[in-house]
Amino acid sequence: MPLLEDTVGVEDLVLLEPLEEKSMLENLQLRYENKEIYTYIGNVIISVNPYQQLPIYGPEFIAKYQNYTFYELKPHIYALANMAYQSLRDQDRDQCIVITGESGSGKTEASKLVMSYVAAVCGKGEQVNLVKEQLLQSNPVLEAFGNAKTIRNNNSSRFGKYMDIEFDFKGSPLGGVITNYLLEKSRVVKQLQGERNFHIFYQLLAGADAQLLKALKLEQDISCYTYLNPEVSRIGGMDDASNFRAVQRAMTVIGFSEEEIRQVLEVTALVLKLGNVEMTDEFQANGIPASGIRNGKGIQEIGEMVGLNSEELERALCSRTMETAKEKVVTVLNVIQAQYARDALAKNIYNRLFNWIVNRINESIKVGTGEKKKVMGVLDIYGFEILEDNSFEQFVINYCNEKLQQVFIELTLKEEQEEYKREGIAWTKVDYFDNGIICNLIEHNQRGILAMLDEECLRPGVVSDSTFLAKLNQLFSKHSHYESKVTQNAQRQYDHTMGLSCFRICHYAGKVTYNVAGFIDKNNDLLFRDLSQVMWKARHPLLHSLFPEGNPKEASLKRPLTAGAQFKSSVAILMKNLYSKNPNYIRCIKPNEHQQRGQFSSELVVVQTRYLGLLENVRVRRAGYAFRQGYKPFLERYRLLSPCTWPYWNGGDREGVEKVLGELSISSEELAYGKTKLFIKSPKTLFYLEEKRHLRLQQLAILIQKVYRGWRCRTHYQLMRKSQILISAWFRGNKQKKHYGKMKASALLIQAFVRGWKARKNYRRYFRSGATLTLANFIYRSIAQKFLLGLRNNLPSTNVLDNRWPAAPYSCFNTANRELQQIFRQWKCKKFRDQLSPKQVQTLKEKLCASELFKGKKASYPQSVPVPFRGDYVGLQGNPKLQKLQGRDEGPVLMAETVKKVNRGNGKTSARILLLTKGHVIITDTKKFQAQTIIGLDSVAEVSVSSLQDGLFSLHLNEITSVGSKGDILLISDHVVELLTKMYQAVLDATQRQLSVTVTEKFSVRFKDKSVAVKVIQGPVGGGKNKLICKKKGSHLEVTVQ
Ligand SMILES: Nc1ncnc2c1ncn2[C@@H]1O[C@H](COP(=O)(O)OP(=O)(O)OP(=O)(O)O)[C@@H](O)[C@H]1O
Ligand SMILES: [Mg+2]
Repeated sequence: MPLLEDTVGVEDLVLLEPLEEKSMLENLQLRYENKEIYTYIGNVIISVNPYQQLPIYGPEFIAKYQNYTFYELKPHIYALANMAYQSLRDQDRDQCIVITGESGSGKTEASKLVMSYVAAVCGKGEQVNLVKEQLLQSNPVLEAFGNAKTIRNNNSSRFGKYMDIEFDFKGSPLGGVITNYLLEKSRVVKQLQGERNFHIFYQLLAGADAQLLKALKLEQDISCYTYLNPEVSRIGGMDDASNFRAVQRAMTVIGFSEEEIRQVLEVTALVLKLGNVEMTDEFQANGIPASGIRNGKGIQEIGEMVGLNSEELERALCSRTMETAKEKVVTVLNVIQAQYARDALAKNIYNRLFNWIVNRINESIKVGTGEKKKVMGVLDIYGFEILEDNSFEQFVINYCNEKLQQVFIELTLKEEQEEYKREGIAWTKVDYFDNGIICNLIEHNQRGILAMLDEECLRPGVVSDSTFLAKLNQLFSKHSHYESKVTQNAQRQYDHTMGLSCFRICHYAGKVTYNVAGFIDKNNDLLFRDLSQVMWKARHPLLHSLFPEGNPKEASLKRPLTAGAQFKSSVAILMKNLYSKNPNYIRCIKPNEHQQRGQFSSELVVVQTRYLGLLENVRVRRAGYAFRQGYKPFLERYRLLSPCTWPYWNGGDREGVEKVLGELSISSEELAYGKTKLFIKSPKTLFYLEEKRHLRLQQLAILIQKVYRGWRCRTHYQLMRKSQILISAWFRGNKQKKHYGKMKASALLIQAFVRGWKARKNYRRYFRSGATLTLANFIYRSIAQKFLLGLRNNLPSTNVLDNRWPAAPYSCFNTANRELQQIFRQWKCKKFRDQLSPKQVQTLKEKLCASELFKGKKASYPQSVPVPFRGDYVGLQGNPKLQKLQGRDEGPVLMAETVKKVNRGNGKTSARILLLTKGHVIITDTKKFQAQTIIGLDSVAEVSVSSLQDGLFSLHLNEITSVGSKGDILLISDHVVELLTKMYQAVLDATQRQLSVTVTEKFSVRFKDKSVAVKVIQGPVGGGKNKLICKKKGSHLEVTVQ
C-alpha cells in the first residue's frame, strides 16, 4: 500500500493543494466519510474520532505496521507509535507522544492504542510480560477513579495524565512512572445535569456483593446517596458491575494487596457516606447561627468504619479553630459553612485517594535507579476548553494547553530548522505566531495572572475575587491579549458578552472569558485544619496516611502551596520533560457533539483545526520543503524512472537520485540536496514524480507481462520440442533396431547357407559319393552286432516265471529288443510245455479252465490255485462199493468228494458223497454208499455258486429231468472250484455244451414246483473257517458265511 496510491483525498496535508482552511476541512471530511480517520501533517497525526469500532486495529495491523516505515502504509497511530518506538530503541532517543484535543476527541483511546502497540512489539519474557501487564492494567484502575460520564464524553478523563514508559537498551519495558494533573474533584460533590460522578462509585454499588456492601455499610440503591446524581445511574454500553470486577482484577495484577483494595474501597465508601451527612441549623446561646448534624447514624457509621470518634468528626465539621502563634480561637460554622466544610472534606479525601492510587501504581511499576533507561512518555491531557461559564479549572487547563502549544511550535520548528541545518540546506526563518506572550501573561513569576492570584490569596486584609479582578485590570490594562469590562470601557468598546466579574484572554486557540468567582477559594484549596487533624486520628491506615499534615507534631503554620502554584510547577516539570524528548504529536479532533458515528460537523471541526493550529502547522512544514526523504528510499522508489538506474545501478544513492531527477528535467529550485536527504519544495513536483512512477509502473507491468508470456510460450515450445525429439529418437532407434535385427537374421541365414555350401563342397572334395551310406551301414551293423552279441551273453534264465530282459542300448533297437523278448518268452514257454506229462497238461488245462470260470469272481479262487486238483478225496481205491456205482463205460471217476447237502425243508445240512463221472453226477449216502441221486450231465442246465469264501453251489436241473425229481440240488463242497471246473469240462466233453456257471450272492433254487431265493451273506469274519449257517424262512434261504 505505497504512498499516494489507493488513497482517499490526501493522506498528508502537506501535499494539499490549494492549501486553505476549506480544502483542508473537505479533505478531512472526505477521508472521515470513507472511514479514513487518520491524516498526516508530516509526522504529526490528525485523528478524527470515528465513534465506532473500525477494523484497523489488532495483531495483524500491528504486525503490518511493524514491518513498514512511516509513509509506506496508510496513516495510522501504529505508524507513529512504531516510528517513536524504533527511534527510541535504535537511535537511543527518548520519545514523547503528546496527545491533545477536546474532551471526547479520542485522546485516551489513542494513548491506549499507542501503549498496546508498544506492548505488542517490544520484547517478550515472563518478567517483561508482567511489566507490560502492569502498565496496561493501570488504565482501567485510573479510568475507574479518574473518569466520569460528562455531557461530551461517556468516559471522560477528569484528570491529566503523563506516563513515562521506561525501556532497557534492548527495548524491553522495565516499568514506568505516571504523573497525574489536576483531578476535577468538584465532581465528587456535584455534577451537572446529565453527568455522573466518578465511575468507581457506580461500579462499587453495582458490582459489590451483599457481603462487601454490608461490610462497607452501603446500600445498592444509587438514589440513597446525595453525591450521586440519580438521573443517570447507567451508561449505555458500559457494564458497571463487570467493570468493577475488572478493576479489582487490574489492581491485583498491578500488585495491590487484598487489604489495600479493601481500604481503598472503604475510603471510597466513606466519601459516599459523607455526602449523606446532613447539616441543620442550630443557634448558640448568644444568637449566633451554628450548625449541627441532623441524623447521627450516618456519622456514627463513618466513625465505626474508619475508626474515628464521631463526636470529634462532628465537631470538626461544624466548627473551625483559628490558630495563630499566640492563641487558638474556635468559631462555630453556620449550615452553609458546615456543608462547605463537609464537601471540602469529601473532595479532599477523594483527591488524596486518587493521588495515593497513582503513587501506589508507581510503586509497583517503578524501575530500579541503577538501570540505564530509555523513556517514552505518553501525555493524555485535557484539551483546550471554552465553556459557557469558564472558571479557575478552565483557566489552568487552558494555560496548560497554551504551554503545550508552545512546546509544539518550538519543537516542530526547532526540529525542522535543525534538520535543514543538519542537512546543510539554506533556510529562511518562517514567521509563526509565538504564544510566548500569552504564556507570560499567565505564568510570569512577578507579573503573571497566577502570581497575582497567589498574591491576593496571601495578602492580609479583605480579599475577594473582585479585588483580584481589579488588580488584573490595573496591571494588564494595556496587554494585547487581556480584556475585561474595565479595559473595554477605557477603549470605549461595548461588549455585552463581557460580564462585570469576568476577564478574557486571547489564547492561541481563541478568546476565552473567565468568571473570577471562586478563583481565590479554589486557588487556596484549603482544608480546615480541624478536619485534617480528625482524619489523621482515624485508625484506618489508609485514611490516616492521606492526611499527614493532621499530625499536630508536624503541624506548621506555613501556608501550603496554592493550587495555581502547584499546577504551574507541575506544568513546568512536564514542559522540561517534553523538551528533553523527541516529540510525536497526535492531534485528536471531535467530529460532532453527539458522539455519533459518521457525522462530520464542519463548524465544530473548523474551530478545533484553528486552535490546534493545523493550517499553521502545514504552512510551517511547507515553508521549507514539503517533502523530504533519505536518498536510499527515494532512489528505491523512483529509480525505475531512468534507464540509467533501472534495473541496475551501481553508483551511490545520491548520484542515482541526481541522475533520475536530472533526466526528468525538474527545475533546480524545486529540489535541494541535503547530506543524507533529498528535499522537494512543492507537492506538485512530488505528484509529478508519482504520476511518472505510476505510468512507468504500468509500462513495467506490461513489460513484465510480455516477458513472462514470451518466457512461458518459449519454455512450453522448448518442452514440446524436447519431447518431440525424444519421441522421434526413440522411434528411429526402434525402427533401426528392427531393421538391424532383420538384416542380422538374413546375414546369419546367408552365412549358414554359404557355410553349408562350403562344407558340402569341401566334403565332396574329400569323400566319394555314397561313402556316407556305406559308412552308416557299417556303423549300424557293428552297433547291432554288438547289441545282439551282448544280448546273447546276457540272456536271462529260462525259468518261465522270470520275465527279466535287458534294455536296448540305443533307442533305435527298442522295437527289435521287444520282439526278441517276446520270441524268447514264447520259446521258453514252448520248452516248458514240451517237457510236461499228459496228466500235468490235463491238470493245467483244468487249472486254466478254473481260472477262466472263477478268477476275479469268487473269493476262494486264489486259495485253490496252488493246490493241485486231486479228484479223489474219499479214497475210491479202497472203497469197492463206490467203485461199483460208476458206470462201466464211463471211465474213471472224475471227482469223488464228501459234500453237504442242504435240506430243502429246513435248510439243515447233511453229509453225502458226490461222484462225478463223464456222464453223471451221483450222490450217495456216506454209510451204505447207495446212490440216492443220479443226474445225467445233460440234465444239469446251470450251476450257481456264491462269490464268497464258501463252498455253496446249486445244480440247476432241466425241467424235464426234474419231473418226478425233487428239483435243484443245493450242495456245499470244500473243493467247489475243482468240482465245478471238472463238471464244466465233463459237460463240455459229454455234450459239447458250455455249462453256465453263475457266480452270485443271490440266486433262486427250484424245489419241486417251489422256488426258494438263496441269499449268501458274509457274516462276521473270524467266526470259523468257511462255516455256513443256513436259515430257511418260507421261500427265503439265508446262508451266512463265517
Ligand atoms: N479510535 C477510536 N475508535 C473507536 N472509538 C473511538 C476511538 N477514539 C475514541 N473513540 C470513542 O470516543 C470516546 C471518547 O474517547 P476518549 O475517551 O478517548 O476521549 P478523550 O479525548 O480522552 O476525552 P476526555 O478529554 O473527555 O477524556 C471513546 O469512549 C470511544 O467510544
Ligand atoms: Mg480521556
